[in-house]
Amino acid sequence: MNNIMTQHTPVKDTNCDENCDENCSSCSSGQKPQPQKGLPLRSKIDVKHVILVLSGKGGVGKSTVSVNLASALSAHGRNVGLLDLDFHGPNIPKMLGIEGQKPAVLEKHIEPVHVTGTLAVMSMAFLLPDTSTPVVWRGPMKMAAIQQFLEEVNWGTLDYLVVDLPPGTGDEALSIAQLAPNVKGAVIVTTPQDVAVLDAVKSVKFIEKLEIPVIGIIENMSGMICPHCGDTIDLFGRGGGKKAAEDLHVPYLGAIPLDPEMVKAGDEGRPYVLRHADTPTWKAVDAVMENLVKLVES
Ligand SMILES: Nc1ncnc2c1ncn2[C@@H]1O[C@H](COP(=O)(O)OP(=O)(O)OP(=O)(O)O)[C@@H](O)[C@H]1O
Ligand SMILES: [Mg+2]
Ligand SMILES: [Zn+2]
Repeated sequence: MNNIMTQHTPVKDTNCDENCDENCSSCSSGQKPQPQKGLPLRSKIDVKHVILVLSGKGGVGKSTVSVNLASALSAHGRNVGLLDLDFHGPNIPKMLGIEGQKPAVLEKHIEPVHVTGTLAVMSMAFLLPDTSTPVVWRGPMKMAAIQQFLEEVNWGTLDYLVVDLPPGTGDEALSIAQLAPNVKGAVIVTTPQDVAVLDAVKSVKFIEKLEIPVIGIIENMSGMICPHCGDTIDLFGRGGGKKAAEDLHVPYLGAIPLDPEMVKAGDEGRPYVLRHADTPTWKAVDAVMENLVKLVES
């Protein structure tokens, strides 16, 4: 199989001439449609809603939010795919306790790792030799890998594909926005501090440049749930995400508190929303999910 995922380096197009040293379309037999610069082909993945999760700043909780949103959606009867596009620090598998698993590479496709019957995951972490190996990824390589993640992974029929992106305004967001069909928009994660909110504003502007809608802003780590008494402590303040949403005229999806149990769940590889119910944090994540569903499915 001509596959970036099994070889870790781009492989020649099977249609390439023998002496061609690139993965080149110009010397191919012409039977295979090739994306042209500026006009990439949209992948034929069968998905109703592609949701990008991003932030301007690192460490604000994108991956945590992605894992919990995807789990909550699947618990609500949706068929969900979770795609980890953080090539440099893929940690979705760890947060789901499926680190070290190897997706089966079959003749025509790659089987994603199934967490439940309605939640399938694909991550570069599954395909790299070990998580401490740094890999140098150039933009076009990332794009090729993203295309294969969309086209060659056996996702089945999905209601949602939740895409966890690395921080900032990089190639990954650009590529997925161009390659995936039905991109319903981006969810921007921020924390309540001024700097993080400023970064959220930048993210909104970036998303608007990509000409995809902003589904809404989530304020993560919004107040802390005290592990002793369960009260809320205003650690980083609260309300910055809501204010940013109002100023930018984009929807506000809600706030998720900073909860030590959330860290524990991530470290132990079990999504918070699947192991707790009816706690303030669970209710907050559930409300965010409901707001998202309302906006996306209406
Ligand atoms: N609501 C929360 N309460 C407590 N801890 C949280 C919460 N959200 C995220 N965290 C913790 O914060 C850390 C960073 O979270 P996470 O990895 O999800 O951020 P990220 O935005 O994906 O980071 P990166 O930019 O590196 O991809 C993790 O240890 C995670 O468990
Ligand atoms: Mg992350
Ligand atoms: Zn307390």
